[in-house]
Amino acid sequence: MGDLSNPERRMLMALQGREGAWTLEQVLAACEWEDQAVAVGAGHGLSNRGFVKIKESITNAIKLGIEGEKAVENGLLEARLWSWIQDNDSPSMKELSDAFERHEAGPGVGLLKKLGVSLEGGVFTCEDPQVVQKEIDSRTAFLNSPSPDDPLYSHFKGRRNLIEDVGTITRTWSITTSGSIISQDELKEVVKIAEITPELLQGDEWRDAEFRPYDVSLAATMPRSGRSHPMQALIERIRSIFLEMGFSEIVEDYVQTAGWNMDALFIPQDHPAREMQDTFYLDNPNSIELDPSLLQQWKDIHEHGGDTESTGWGGQYDPAISQKGLLRTHTTVNTIQYLAENPTEACRVFAIDRVFRKESIDRTHLPEFHQIEGIIMEPGANLGMLVTTLKTFYEKMGYPEVRVRPAYFPYTEPSLEVEVKWRGKWLELGGAGIFRPEVTEPLGIKDPVCAWGMGLERLAMLVLGLDDIRQLYISDLEWLRNQPIL
Ligand code: PHE
Repeated sequence: MGDLSNPERRMLMALQGREGAWTLEQVLAACEWEDQAVAVGAGHGLSNRGFVKIKESITNAIKLGIEGEKAVENGLLEARLWSWIQDNDSPSMKELSDAFERHEAGPGVGLLKKLGVSLEGGVFTCEDPQVVQKEIDSRTAFLNSPSPDDPLYSHFKGRRNLIEDVGTITRTWSITTSGSIISQDELKEVVKIAEITPELLQGDEWRDAEFRPYDVSLAATMPRSGRSHPMQALIERIRSIFLEMGFSEIVEDYVQTAGWNMDALFIPQDHPAREMQDTFYLDNPNSIELDPSLLQQWKDIHEHGGDTESTGWGGQYDPAISQKGLLRTHTTVNTIQYLAENPTEACRVFAIDRVFRKESIDRTHLPEFHQIEGIIMEPGANLGMLVTTLKTFYEKMGYPEVRVRPAYFPYTEPSLEVEVKWRGKWLELGGAGIFRPEVTEPLGIKDPVCAWGMGLERLAMLVLGLDDIRQLYISDLEWLRNQPIL
């Protein structure tokens, strides 16, 4: 009987003392228990093994609902209306409506009508006031001691919140034949170890002790402990995937110049995304001085293509625009500066960082969000490599179905849009492409550069199954506690 718990042993031993049904009180007394949950639990265990039979019966009881409690305190609605009618010489509906709230007058009159009160020419009359009074008295009496056996029970059941049913379960336990043949020896209580502690392991007692079996299928409360915010956890996971794929991380400021954020990327100076309504330009620093030779280089490229084979955008390039301070609108501003500083060394770098755009906040947009950005520069880098890298990344994130579609960015050619399949639908997660010669050649870059930039919050929505991006940042503690460990 090694698998019986101590309470089960004790209860079975007690029940062996007498055949027939045992009530809860009898079991508690015989086992010297205070807590009825122990008896019920032990009884269940024994019944599961067929040593004990449980008989359960449900007895009906009722208690007052919220309205019932109010009625006991202030009188039943029909009783209050009735006594008002009694106190008036020619009680009219109009006066009653003044004396009672609207939500009481209507239903109250309905109740009285059913009792035999009628309205004639706007005045209440009643043939037999005694009958009405009698019924009202017995209803009041019912509420003072409600019972399910009272004939008025069904009347009150039909009214809202006056009474509530409360069933109580009564159990009895009786021993079965297979329970009674177990020898008392086997029912001796043993010391069982329920918890393994460092102190326990320091001694030797545990070597001969019995261990309580551990049931992994039982419901248990979730331990509440400190943990990373799901966005932070996701960033860590993405970071480790890129590190694992041989990339290094770059971290840079988000205050940047329009020159690096846009001009260096061959985004024309009249591009709509550069407008005030899309980009946060800064008052301080309003302008950041840039190296004149850099400005000259961008001017040449933008106006006529500089030394590249490009013809540029034409028009007039304005160096004052380039020196404007802004909050970066994409992390590509940092990868391009990394390349400017390291134009000849093959590299694989990534960034997971914050960007800013003047978006109005809604279900899928935030003015402040994160991008996952990366580049591969090496001899022979090509589109196939770019697509494979992105696919590998998403596969490691748990999204094996990835496709790319042609797209347009001023700084890449060819350009792609990356889509991931989620719940049967293709969702756009970011852009990618190979940097154009107008971007790379002036920096002295000889090898092709594959680049991509993806939205982190969009990916978080997939991972966490959200349909509102704002959920990520509203610090909803209950939601945060229930998020999966990423
Ligand atoms: N910078 C682009 C964006 O913000 C993404 C991108 C990065 C596209 C690199 C191509 C290459 O959407």
